[in-house]
Amino acid sequence: MSYGFSIFSHPSFRPAFSACRSLLLGCTLALLALLTNSSIAADEESSPAEKASDQRRDLHLYMKGRALYQKFCVDCHGTTGRGNGPWAVGLEAQPRNFRSGLYKFRTTKYGTLPVDADLERTIRSGISGTAMPVFANLLDDEMLSVIYYLKSLSRAWKDPAQASQSVTLPKEAPTWLGSDEERKSHLPAGAERYRLLCAVCHGESGKGDGPGGTGMMDAWEHPIRPAALAAEHHKSGDSPLDLYRTIATGLNGTPMIGFADALKEQEIWELVAWIDELGKQAEARGDRPSTPVIELPGKKE
Ligand code: HEC
Ligand code: HEC
Repeated sequence: MSYGFSIFSHPSFRPAFSACRSLLLGCTLALLALLTNSSIAADEESSPAEKASDQRRDLHLYMKGRALYQKFCVDCHGTTGRGNGPWAVGLEAQPRNFRSGLYKFRTTKYGTLPVDADLERTIRSGISGTAMPVFANLLDDEMLSVIYYLKSLSRAWKDPAQASQSVTLPKEAPTWLGSDEERKSHLPAGAERYRLLCAVCHGESGKGDGPGGTGMMDAWEHPIRPAALAAEHHKSGDSPLDLYRTIATGLNGTPMIGFADALKEQEIWELVAWIDELGKQAEARGDRPSTPVIELPGKKE
């Protein structure tokens, strides 16, 4: 048996551990006896009160979140969160329908729910090239309540089986990515993998015009195009870590799957380097794709 924890293999620890295991019941009872007094007392005294205070807290979050939603989000995302507010008309990237529980920008596995920090990142940073604004100045408790409210809009969050957690992502980019000299030696590998796995949708030169990228629909039945990766700005952030996250975890509800299981960390970084190179090459040729600037229709009375 391996615990991956050195104290279990320490010679002086072993006898005590197995003695306790052979007397498992006795040990458990002794432990229970130690715990019961305090925990039962705590249960009797504070449990109903705790429950009531939890409920009050939830109600407070919900009401506050709903008020913020109605002030800042409803014109695009719609009264019931279906993404069909009055400002949604004519937008190419349609506001998210929150009823489905499908979120594109996540640190979690492709196909699973995001964690709160994912929603916060999107809400604070906005989504480049779409109508989704930047709400960088929401206070922490406002953020908490607006996220609470978004989650109340979909059944997916009520199913504990769908609870999800972030996958392990690198905390910083490799140093070679920052050095022009060293980066060069990784470009051929990135270019090759890009041609194999990505060009069919994103196009050889990263303009989003690959032969397989036409006529695609997203999960909400809106037409969707592969991203123009050679553009300066990307929906979910422009840093190498942002690109890494998207390539690793994919974008739910779109044909952009996550490659975390198929590619090694180094291989994903090589793709990030190649995407950066595609932008530089397009810039040098003078045909870098531009990120759309969205004109909002203004509040309809
Ligand atoms: C002017 C329109 C507009 C407003 C106002 C707006 N959004 Fe959005 N939002 C969008 C669009 C468009 C998208 C989808 C972009 C895409 O899918 O590429 C989006 C997507 C999102 C997403 C989904 C991110 C994901 O991972 O899929 C979240 C979360 C979100 N908005 C939260 C909010 C919140 C919270 C507010 C209010 C505080 C708000 N939005 C206000 C237009 C808007
Ligand atoms: C089947 C088609 C398809 C393939 C194959 C594909 N993608 Fe995508 N990708 C998409 C679509 C569609 C989007 C846009 C989703 C959106 O706008 O919501 C996208 C978006 C992206 C983005 C997000 C950019 C942003 O705006 O934040 C990155 C990065 C990306 N893809 C990288 C890759 C890489 C690297 C590969 C190969 C390993 C790849 N994709 C393979 C279809 C594909």
